[in-house]
Amino acid sequence: MTSSRRADWLVPTALIALTLIPMGGGAIRLTDLAGGEVTPENARFFAAPLPVVLHIVGAVVYCLAGAFQFSPGFRRRKPATHRLLGRILIPAGLLMALTGLWMTLFYPYPEGDGDLLASFRLVTGSATVLALVLGFTAIRRRDIVRHRAWMVRAYAIAQGAGTQALVTIAWVVLVGPATGLTRTLLLGAGWVINVAFAEWVIREPGRRRRALYRERRAERTA
Ligand code: HEM
Repeated sequence: MTSSRRADWLVPTALIALTLIPMGGGAIRLTDLAGGEVTPENARFFAAPLPVVLHIVGAVVYCLAGAFQFSPGFRRRKPATHRLLGRILIPAGLLMALTGLWMTLFYPYPEGDGDLLASFRLVTGSATVLALVLGFTAIRRRDIVRHRAWMVRAYAIAQGAGTQALVTIAWVVLVGPATGLTRTLLLGAGWVINVAFAEWVIREPGRRRRALYRERRAERTA
């Protein structure tokens, strides 16, 4: 199998795997809302269930279907499906980010969360909205390079939920409990890791092209 063929399934598989833990959390929360008891831990969700339900549905659609948009072969072979998925993904991503912002502003903080975590969420939620809008306007102008860059950024921030779960699990296993400021910083780290990775991915094709060019030039002069 060629490396590009491998990337065709490896990229979506890895991205879907990353979203499994937050999706599991979403399924538990929806089940709880459908028939569970009100407790101090979940009272804010029962008091206003619509935003969290829309948030989970939007996030799951966005993270699952979005995974296929980053498969190079899929984009090349099925451009019409890429466009169709894009038309579903932009509203789903906006729904996820706008409800995330709404919950940050209007749900009471659960115990241990504070203004720092809220400010992280306001920044990442707003950045997701901005990146989706800029990604959309770029493709309307047929600017594929900018479209790709903004869509990679928007998706990376959303997938922060998956990286946060992995970072937090690693911390709990290796170091100890993750509460209060520690939990907030671990959640922040999840977003920082993903944004750094996104910036690397955005610049990667240029680096690979330059390496190939250098290789070919070396072959010619040898
Ligand atoms: C722009 C990125 C995101 C922001 C700003 C954001 C923000 C939020 C906020 C403010 C809450 C309420 C937290 C609380 O009151 O305890 C929340 C809950 C939740 N979010 Fe997100 N979110 C984002 C992306 C995602 C993604 C991508 C997923 C899943 C794939 C996800 C899954 C969930 C789930 C399952 C809950 C309910 C948590 C619980 O049951 O305690 N979120 N989110």
